[in-house]
Amino acid sequence: MASLLPRDSKGCPYLLLAPMEGVGDRCFRKAMASIGGFDEAVTDFLRVPANAHIESLAKKYEPFETTPIPLAVQLMGSDPELLAAMAVAMEKKQAPRIDLNCGCPSNTVTGKGAGSSLLKDPEFLHENAQALVRAVSTPVTLKMRSGYEDTSLFQENLLAAQESGVKYITLHPRTKVDGYGPPAKWEYIAQAKDLLKIPVVGNGDILEVKDALAMLKQTSCDALMIGRGSIINPFIFHQIRAHFHGREFHPKWNDLLTYFSVYLEEIADEVPQKIRVSKLKQLMSFQFKGNVDLLENRQMILRLQCTTVEEFLTISLPLLKEGWLKTPGNQL
Ligand SMILES: Cc1cc2nc3c(=O)[nH]c(=O)nc-3n(C[C@H](O)[C@H](O)[C@H](O)COP(=O)(O)O)c2cc1C
Repeated sequence: MASLLPRDSKGCPYLLLAPMEGVGDRCFRKAMASIGGFDEAVTDFLRVPANAHIESLAKKYEPFETTPIPLAVQLMGSDPELLAAMAVAMEKKQAPRIDLNCGCPSNTVTGKGAGSSLLKDPEFLHENAQALVRAVSTPVTLKMRSGYEDTSLFQENLLAAQESGVKYITLHPRTKVDGYGPPAKWEYIAQAKDLLKIPVVGNGDILEVKDALAMLKQTSCDALMIGRGSIINPFIFHQIRAHFHGREFHPKWNDLLTYFSVYLEEIADEVPQKIRVSKLKQLMSFQFKGNVDLLENRQMILRLQCTTVEEFLTISLPLLKEGWLKTPGNQL
């Protein structure tokens, strides 16, 4: 059977855009898909609550229309029957892959036994994952943290996931208690690789090409998933691929403009007028963080008081462009 995580012809590992509820929502994913560079994306979690109405929930999943990049769907829940029913609905909508969320740290989620709470009980994790696997022929995968309060059940959870029949796991090596704070402990990715027969996707704290290379070297993981690093630098996937292709990659301002125009089209569709500027600011508050060339202009952008998106863009885009073009290699 063909690998679900094929390297490209030049040996670049399969690159996945991470699910990120909130700032990395549908609008962001579509903007990212417009500039591409990655092999696959996955939706942020689609909650399958106890009283879920499967048909109406299923409407929330829409594959990318304008690019061939596959968009997997991530489900979050803790009722095996409902998860299975939802998986069937997702298969009907031709989702290319169904992922089970075993990592969300939010207490409103974990309080209901879903997300990272599944890591407290490997048998229950197994039951939920297996329900998905048995319900569909679409590949099922699982994304997990290294533990809930601690990592004492780490190996049991990995083995439970593998035994359930999932095709691969993605590991974000922090516990639920860690949240997003302390550095991700990549040694857990290496441990998962040693223990499991199924592939392991490494995730956590890849902000630059050198981090991607270091994770591959330290863990021998099969593929890479990047979240926050792609909000900060939308071209990170292109840069990683260019490294494997032995060429330089020079980001173009025009591509960034495309990214923004797609983002704007999307937020115009689904975000009320009065919070559009703050949504754009939220995105820009992450973008190019740490880029010294942009420091001053970013601060000016984030301090802008505008009521309309048009006004905000008229002032912010030239500021962004001016700072962004100072970085060697960035082009018009
Ligand atoms: C704002 C935000 C929302 C997230 N939402 C999800 C989610 O819906 N599903 C999920 O599995 N992980 C979610 N994550 C975790 C990321 O997918 C990823 O595992 C984590 O951020 C570590 O990777 P990174 O350092 O590349 O960002 C979220 C992370 C952030 C920062």
